[in-house]
Amino acid sequence: MVTGTSLSHVFPLGSRLNERGRLEVGGCDTIELAREYGTPAYIVAEDDLRARARAFVQAGRQAGHDDFHVAFASKAFPCTAVLELFAREGLWCDVASGGELHLALNAGFEPERIVLHGNAKSESELRTALDRGVGLIVIDNFDEIDRLELLLADFQSAHAPTGGAAHARPRDAPHAARPSPIGEGLRTHDQDVLIRVTPDVRGDTHDHISTGQADSKFGFGMAQAEEAIARIERVDGLSLRGVHAHIGSQLLELEPFRREAAELAKLGDFPVWDVGGGLGVAYTEDQHPPEIEEYVGAIVQAAHAHGLSPDRRLLIEPGRALSANAGVTLYTVESVKSNVSRWVAVDGGMSDNLRPVLYGATYEAHVADRFGGQTRCVLAGKHCESGDVIVRDALLDDPRPGDVIVTPATGAYAYAMASNYNGVPRPPVVFCKDGDARVVVRRESFEDMTARDVR
Ligand code: LLP
Repeated sequence: MVTGTSLSHVFPLGSRLNERGRLEVGGCDTIELAREYGTPAYIVAEDDLRARARAFVQAGRQAGHDDFHVAFASKAFPCTAVLELFAREGLWCDVASGGELHLALNAGFEPERIVLHGNAKSESELRTALDRGVGLIVIDNFDEIDRLELLLADFQSAHAPTGGAAHARPRDAPHAARPSPIGEGLRTHDQDVLIRVTPDVRGDTHDHISTGQADSKFGFGMAQAEEAIARIERVDGLSLRGVHAHIGSQLLELEPFRREAAELAKLGDFPVWDVGGGLGVAYTEDQHPPEIEEYVGAIVQAAHAHGLSPDRRLLIEPGRALSANAGVTLYTVESVKSNVSRWVAVDGGMSDNLRPVLYGATYEAHVADRFGGQTRCVLAGKHCESGDVIVRDALLDDPRPGDVIVTPATGAYAYAMASNYNGVPRPPVVFCKDGDARVVVRRESFEDMTARDVR
C-alpha cells in the first residue's frame, strides 16, 4: 500500500502540510478543526480506514486464498461510525464482550460475520451470542464448554416442540445458508465454534499485550487441546469448525506468526483457521512494520505450508493495523515551564490516551502549524500524576500557550481506553474526508458525567 505523500507513514494517508504550513488530515486544516470542534479531539481520516480495509482484503486474494476474511478487532476503536464503515467494506467483526457485540450488531454487522471472544464470557453474553446467531464463538476454557452445553440444552428443551434436536453438521460440510434465529431464540442449526489455544509462541512486544506464551490467561494449553476438542465434539448443538490463536499485539516481525501457523496445524485438520490479529504499526517515523501485503502473504503462505488447503477458511483479526494510523489527536497547549526539563502541558493526557502510561508507548508530537521544531520538551497531560506524560522527548518548535499540538497514530486503543479521570470529559471523534469534517461522536459534557447518578 502506498503511504502518505509529503508526511511520514505515521500520519493518515493523504495527510499533508498545506500552503500555510498547517497539517491537513482528510483534506481538513487541523488548526481550523481545533477552532471548530475544540480540543482534545480525535481526528480520523475516513479514507485511510477504507484503504487499509481494502488492502487487507485484497492481500488475501493476491496471496492465493479466496476464502479469506478480515475481522476488525472492535476493541481497537469501538466507535459506531468506525464499525459502520468497516461493516460496509464487508469486513467481519471480532467482539470480546456483550457490549462489543451490541456495538457490532448496532453498526450493521451481519451476525454470521461476528466472532465472539473472551476468557471470561458470562452466561448472558453466551446466551445473547446464541440467540443472535453469531457466526463463531471462540471457546477459551472447559467451564465455557459446560456453560454452553447447559445453555444449548435449555434452548433445545424450550424451543424444540417436536423434540427435534438441532441439525448436526459434519465438520467438513460447507457453510450452508440457514434460517436466521434472531429474536426467536429458535436454534435450527448447530452453533459454530472455534477452540482457542495458547501455542507457546512469544513475539517481541510488551508483556501486557503478549498472549501466545504458555503461561497465558487465554485459551487452552496445547497439551489440553485434544481433550477440549473431544469434549466440544460431544456437546449436542455445537459444531467445532476450527482453531484460533492470537499471539499478541504490536508485533513488528513476521516470524512469530509463522510459528503460530505451525502450532495450529498440530491440532488436526479443520476447515477454519483464525490466526488472530497483532500486526504492529509505526507510532514514530523510525518504526517500519511489515506492510499489510507482506503480513497477509506470510500468514497465507505459512497456513498453506502447514496444511491449510486454499479452499478452507482463513480469518485474521487486525485491530491496530486497521485504525491506528488513520487517527491523530489534537491538543491545545495550556502552559509551558522550564526546570530541569521544558514542560509543555496540554488540555488532555492519560484520560484520552492511556498507552504511554500503561505500556511506555512512544508517540511523536508536532505543533500543528509549525512542524520541524528542535526544542526538546516533555509533552505532559493535565492529570494529577507525574506519570501523565504523552511524549517524553518531543521536539517542538518553541511551543507557546494556545498552540495546537498533534500526536499521530492515535486511531487505535486511545478512544477505546479513554476515561473521565479527573473529571475530564472524553473528546469527540471527527471524521474528515475530501475537506469535509463531521462529528461522529460528540464531546462528552459535564452533565454526561452525572447522568448515571441515582439520588
Ligand atoms: N484478536 C484477539 C483475540 C485479540 O485479543 C486482539 C487484541 C486482537 C485480535 C487485535 O489485536 P491487534 O491487531 O490490534 O494487535 N490495549 C493494547 C492492545 C490490546 C490488544 C488486545 N487484544 C494497546 O493499546 O496496545
